[in-house]
Formats: sequence, structure tokens, C-alpha cells
Amino acid sequence: MAVAAFLRRGLGLLVPLAIASTVYLYLYPFFQGCAFPLPSRDSRAAFEETKKLHWPLAETSDNGTSMEHFAPFRLLALGDPQLEGDTSIPTQVYGVLPHLKKIVKNLTFRTEHNSLRERIRMTLHDTVDFYFEDIPNIFESIRKRIDLFGNDFYLAHIYRTMNWWAKPTHVTVLGDLVGSQWIDDDEFERRGRRFWNRTFRGGERLPDDVAQYPQNQYDISGVLDGSAEQQIWTKRILNVAGNHDIGYAGDLTEERMERFERVFGKANYELRFELPVTDPELNATIVDDDTNPESLRLAPEIRIVVLNDMNLDTPAKSSVLQDATYAFINSVIGNSHGVEFQGGFTIVLTHIPTYKPAGLCVDGPFFDFHTSADGGGVKEQYLLSADASKGFFEGIFGVSANTAAAGNGLGRPGLILNGHDHAGCDTYHFVNHTNGTGPEDRPWQHTLWSDAQAQKLPLQEGLPGRREITVRSMMGDYGGNAGMLSMWFDFEKWEWQYDYADCQLGRQHFWWLTHSVDFSVVLFAVLYVVVVVMEASGVDVDGRLDRVVGRVRAWIVDETRQRGTKTATRENGHK
Ligand SMILES: *[C@@H]1O[C@H](CO)[C@@H](O)[C@H](O)[C@H]1NC(C)=O
Ligand SMILES: *[C@@H]1O[C@H](CO)[C@@H](O)[C@H](O)[C@H]1NC(C)=O
Ligand SMILES: *[C@@H]1O[C@H](CO)[C@@H](O)[C@H](O)[C@H]1NC(C)=O
Repeated sequence: MAVAAFLRRGLGLLVPLAIASTVYLYLYPFFQGCAFPLPSRDSRAAFEETKKLHWPLAETSDNGTSMEHFAPFRLLALGDPQLEGDTSIPTQVYGVLPHLKKIVKNLTFRTEHNSLRERIRMTLHDTVDFYFEDIPNIFESIRKRIDLFGNDFYLAHIYRTMNWWAKPTHVTVLGDLVGSQWIDDDEFERRGRRFWNRTFRGGERLPDDVAQYPQNQYDISGVLDGSAEQQIWTKRILNVAGNHDIGYAGDLTEERMERFERVFGKANYELRFELPVTDPELNATIVDDDTNPESLRLAPEIRIVVLNDMNLDTPAKSSVLQDATYAFINSVIGNSHGVEFQGGFTIVLTHIPTYKPAGLCVDGPFFDFHTSADGGGVKEQYLLSADASKGFFEGIFGVSANTAAAGNGLGRPGLILNGHDHAGCDTYHFVNHTNGTGPEDRPWQHTLWSDAQAQKLPLQEGLPGRREITVRSMMGDYGGNAGMLSMWFDFEKWEWQYDYADCQLGRQHFWWLTHSVDFSVVLFAVLYVVVVVMEASGVDVDGRLDRVVGRVRAWIVDETRQRGTKTATRENGHK
């Protein structure tokens, strides 16, 4: 057998596969045609412009940037990474070979059993569990450890590649950063380290003094001018608290909240970003108490409200934390510009989606409660209750079924982004002002965004509504999704416009395959070099290998023959 030739042929097969899959994996947004939507809403053009950012020969404008065609606000929205850990590794949960240990104890009479029969019964029991639980659990634990390790890097690949390719200005992770609210503090810290140092490497926790409590409408967190100073916002990650991070209302304690906020950032805050208006004529039309008090035009502003909606519904375990959430919402509402003003836009980032009837999204209305012995709090919920959902639409956005309300009940512009439903969903919630005679005849109605668009509902008079985008999870089982929200300002209408697109890497198996093939190529290449060097220095590699193979073969033949003789002897003896 010619070893060098074998390795060479292997490399010949593996190298093209490795190159093709690696190029695809590392450039997946390119092959998927992903890009932040442009103000033209032309996805083809968006892709072409994004491509230019990465083409070294493309022309750049005088100030060295080529971003002027892009929307000034580009939010990379990632859903439910759910970093798992200890709690999904059986040997960590149950220990290593627990039933074998019990058998040993039983046989060494270190357990309490009344009778010998009982002792034998338990031992047999444990023996079965040893074979059917302990041993499979060992293999499952090894598999799971490898799986978890790879998963961190798979998710990291999405974050890193999307950042590099699509150039977001802001990044959010919409809750369920970790996979379980039941983990102890040490494990929580470990997952926090994996989150920051592995999966979202390069990302930064939002400093507490930047995550403001709503106070002053004129406090600005940042300016959307693309300057170097504002680049800090591309690193900061706006983390949302999810049920696996802090627990549902019935589990949410101050301790869980404290550790979440310490590791990932505050759970309730707002940020305000202003778009500079450089044109002096336009700038002069903006409301100003001294020079232009009559105007209804605000300086263009995007207000981001990050909200913990885990304890909006009742009963909640900690009334202190629930009061804090309600107080926060009230201060968000209290510090909003009047609904009659133009130029503002509110993005709510939260975890649990708002109420909608069953059948619209994968998740429908669902509630489960702890038993009263356990406090009776919310144990699980898929959606917020209809009442809690109104807090968003009627409270934060100020939309009202009552046409006599401020601003005719049309409310202020905004959008909700959330996670929780791993499959993702895109819906529109509205009230019909022409329905009936009063607000009591006008319930909130819910439809898919695609249907709303087909019927042109958002453009119709007397149908105020808001869109809610539930971003599909970035987990491998859901295709490694990333959401891209672009926002730009229409100076004629003096209002914000937006568009949203998804980008998917594909399932985790492809990531594994690519890295396995790459590893094999390296292995083959190293072996090949070793063999060639040995042969060059006069070692007969082929001959040696032949001898080794020959010896192994002889040993196997020998063993088989001996066993055959033994069996034959035994059978003869039994005659
Ligand atoms: C990340 O790793 C560095 C160095 O290994 C360490 O000093 C730092 O504390 C880690 N960060 C977190 C959030 O654990
Ligand atoms: C409008 O112009 C004034 C004076 O130049 C400036 O201070 C202000 O920031 C401008 N407004 C906006 C929204 O850019
Ligand atoms: C709104 O209500 C009016 C009057 O009932 C009805 O004709 C119209 O179809 C409704 N619009 C929608 C979108 O349901």
C-alpha cells in the first residue's frame, strides 16, 4: 500500500470540499443575499451596496465612508440564544454512574434493607438502570459537552459574521440569553462568561449610567451621525430579560433580577438617539420654545424602550419588582412627547410577545400557574394577556379606540420587537375607528403583517395600528436567524420609515461538517508531510505499515482460531 499516494488522493477529495464549505460558511450573508434594507426598500440594491463595503477597490466618498446610502439606524436583532450548560448534561445532574455506586453500596451492605430479598431486588433494579441509564448517559453527556462547546461558537459565528458583513449601528438580544432560570449562581456566572467572552465576543455590557430611567425628554444617549465617537454603540449589546434569564412572574425574585442585571445589564431603561438635521431651513422648522414654539416638529428621534415584561401579568412572586415594572412603564408614558408631535419613533424591545388569538403564530395564548402551595404565581406563559398587551398599544404608543382622545386616538409611531416564540412571527394590531359608535365597540384586532399589507391596513384612515416583529431564534434548530431592522427619516413627511429583513446561516450541522472537514484536511496534510519527510530520509514507510498491518491481521486470525478451538472443546465436553 502506498501511504503517500493514499494521503494525496484523500487530500485531493477533501480539499475542494473544505474550501467550498468554508467559503460558504464564512461568507454566508453574501451567498444568502443578506443586507440591511435601504431607504429605497430595494433588496437587490441593498445587497449591492453592502457588497461594495467589502470590495477593496470600491470607491469611497471624500470623507472616507461609503455609508451615506444606508439607513442611519440599523439594528441587528437576535432572538433567544439560550446558552445551555450543566443542566443539560446528565452526568452533571445525576452524577457519574449513580446506579453502579448504589449497586456497590448494596453489595457491601452499606444500605438499609430489611431483607435479603429486598437487597437482591434493588440490586437487580440498579443493574438494569446501570445498563439502560448510566451507560447511555455517559455517552449522551460526552455528546452534549461537545455540542454545547460547538454551539457557543456557532452562535458566535452568526454575531461576528453579521457584524462584519452587514454593519449594524446597534445590537439587541431579545431575551433568553441563557437556557434556564433554575441554575445556581456559579453556573449563571459561567454562562455569563461564555456569553461575553465567547458567543458575543467583542460586545460590551451597556453601562448602568447610560441605561437611563425615563426622566428628561431632551436627554440624548447618542447621535445617529455615523461618527467614530458613536461607534461605541455598535459594540454595546442591548440585552432583554427573558423567562430563562430571570424566571416568569411566579419565579422572579430579587436575587434572580440582581444577578441578571449585574452580568447582562439593566432590565428596564430607555435610550434616545437623535438624527442631526444639517439643512438650516429644515432645522429652523423644528419646535423650539423660544424661536419656533408653534411647530409640531420634533428633532428626529428614535426612542428605544427596553422593558422586562416577565412580570406584567399576575400573580407575581415579588410585588416589589412588579411595581417597579409598572412604575417604569408609567414613567415611559409620562416622559413621552405629546401624540400630536411628529418626528419621534418608539421601538420597544421586550421578550414575551403581546396577545393574539391562536392560529396567527406558532405560539397561541397559554398560561400555567404554580399551585397555591407554591405561591400561585405565573409558571409559564406564551403570550401576554390581552390587558397587559394594551399597556404597550394604549399606554406607550398612546393609540386609543376613542377618537376623542388626544391626537384623535392615532397615537405615536412605534414598533415592538420581541422573542420567546422561537419560530418567529410578524403581526399587526389595530383598532377600527369606524366600527360601532364608541370605544367599547372597538376591540383590538390582530392579523399577520403580510395580510395587513395585502389589505393596505396600515395606510387606511381610521385604522391606527402597530406592528410587532417576533424575531426568530438564532439557535441552530431554527436556522441561525438574525433580524435586520433599518430606520431612516422622511424629511418631507417628517416621520421615520423602517423596513425589516431576516438572514439565516442554516442549521448547526453545516457548521460542524465544515469544521470537521477542515480538521481532516489539516490532519491529512500533516501526515502527508511526515510520510514524505520520512521517505526522503530513507525510511520505508510503506514496508513498515505493511508489516504492522500483517501482524495485526495474523493476530486476529490467530485469536479467531483459538476461540474456535475453545468453543469446539467445550461443545465436545457437553456431548
Ligand atoms: C473574559 O475573559 C477575560 C480574560 O480571560 C477575563 O478577565 C474576564 O473577566 C472575562 N469576562 C467575563 C465577563 O467573564
Ligand atoms: C439645529 O441647528 C442647531 C444650531 O446649529 C443645532 O444646535 C441643532 O443640533 C440642530 N438640530 C438638529 C436636530 O440637528
Ligand atoms: C372597520 O369597520 C367598518 C364598519 O364596521 C367596516 O366596514 C370595515 O370593513 C372595518 N375595517 C376592517 C379592516 O376591519
